[in-house]
Amino acid sequence: MKNSPHDASRVVALVPAAGQGVRLGAATPKAFVPVGGSPMLTHAIDGLIASGVVDRIVIMVPAELIERARHLSATAGSSIPVSVVAGGSERIDSVRAGLTAAPEATHVLVHDAARALTPPSLIARVVAELRAGRRAVVPGLPVTDTIKSVDAHGVVTGTPERAGLRAIQTPQGFEAQLLREAYALDLPATDDAGLVERLGAHVHVIPGDPMAFKITTPLDLRLAEALLAERPVAQAVPR
Ligand code: C5P
Repeated sequence: MKNSPHDASRVVALVPAAGQGVRLGAATPKAFVPVGGSPMLTHAIDGLIASGVVDRIVIMVPAELIERARHLSATAGSSIPVSVVAGGSERIDSVRAGLTAAPEATHVLVHDAARALTPPSLIARVVAELRAGRRAVVPGLPVTDTIKSVDAHGVVTGTPERAGLRAIQTPQGFEAQLLREAYALDLPATDDAGLVERLGAHVHVIPGDPMAFKITTPLDLRLAEALLAERPVAQAVPR
C-alpha cells in the first residue's frame, strides 16, 4: 500500500543498469537490450511504478547512456520522479552511486534492471515487510538443482543440504540506514544482502517469484520473449 500523506517514510528504488552484460553477448549494455519490443530497463521501471509502493526511482547506467536512459524514463510517463545517474565498474559501485543520489530515502529497494519481468506484487510484498518493521528483506526460491562447492581444480569440496538453500532475487529491501552502514564496510559482495549480513543484521527471506528471474544468457532472453508474447497487458497493484 502507498504511503499516507502523513507518512514520513520514503521508499526509493535503486535500479542497477550499468552492466555490460557480457554473458548475454549483445552489442548493447544489457539493460538496454530490447525484450518484447522495449528495453529491459523500461520493463523494470514499469514494474516498480505499477507496484504503487515506490516514491522515487534512481537508475544507474553507463555514463555514455545517461541521456538515453533519461529519454526512456520520460517516455514511460512515470507518475513518480525518476532520476538517472552514472553507475560504476562493479555492481557494488553502481549501487553506491544510487545510494548517494537518494539522501531522502528511509527505505531502499535495490532491483536489477535484468529482472525485467518481476511482478509488481512481489515488489509490494517486499515493501510491506519493510513497513512491518523488517530491516532487510529478500525474495528467494528453493533451488531445484543440487549445489556443490568446488575448489580451483574442479574437485568437489562440499554438498550443502538442498532444503536449506534459496536462490535469491531482487528487489532486495532495506532500511536505508542499514544499507548505508553495510556499504561503508567497503567489502566485496555479489548482492546487497550479503553486505548487510556482514554487519551481523538479520536478513529475512520471503517467497520469491519465478517471473523475477534474471535475464543473463541468450536462453533467458528467449524465455522472456516467449513469456511477454503471451502476457496480457500489465495490471497495476490496487492502491
Ligand atoms: O552482471 P549481473 O547480471 O549480476 O548484473 C545484475 C545487475 O547489475 C544488472 O541489472 C546490471 O546492469 C547491473 N550492474 C550495474 N553495474 C555494474 C555491473 C552490473 O549496474 N558495473
